[in-house]
Amino acid sequence: MRVRVHVNGEWRETDVSDAASLLTMLRDSLGLLGSKNACEQGECGSCSVWLDGDVVCSCLVLAAQADGREVRTVEALADGERLHPVQEAFVAAGAVQCGFCTPGLVVAVTDLLERDPAADEVAVREALAGNICRCTGYEKILDAVRLAAVSRQGGAW
Ligand code: FES
Ligand code: FES
Repeated sequence: MRVRVHVNGEWRETDVSDAASLLTMLRDSLGLLGSKNACEQGECGSCSVWLDGDVVCSCLVLAAQADGREVRTVEALADGERLHPVQEAFVAAGAVQCGFCTPGLVVAVTDLLERDPAADEVAVREALAGNICRCTGYEKILDAVRLAAVSRQGGAW
């Protein structure tokens, strides 16, 4: 079937199978490899994208369900070679090891701080509860969120 989505500011159109997920379409048909496939079961958050402004696990959404809708992926965040402040915070805090979870976490943190720049620790932990990291033990990720929150509250983004 033919699916047309508005991805990161431009309309893209592609053929997909009826059973293809949004994640598969983004990665395999549209060449957007930022969203990762780690579990394909909605358990890890590595495939997180925005669909009409809400963060979803793109492995759980059919490509067909995204037809005609707005998709924003992690690729939308960096400005050319310049990282988004949330991405910079992850690097600065040493919160990236293998990096497989990082795109999903960056999407989750960006979403949280866009909505609530002053999110407290409980809100942060709740917002990230769906994102699994197998490497870092999460402390450095929480450090990254604190750094990103400072830049958000300082008006850097
Ligand atoms: S790959 Fe989608 S939640 Fe893990
Ligand atoms: S950095 Fe490896 S899974 Fe998080």
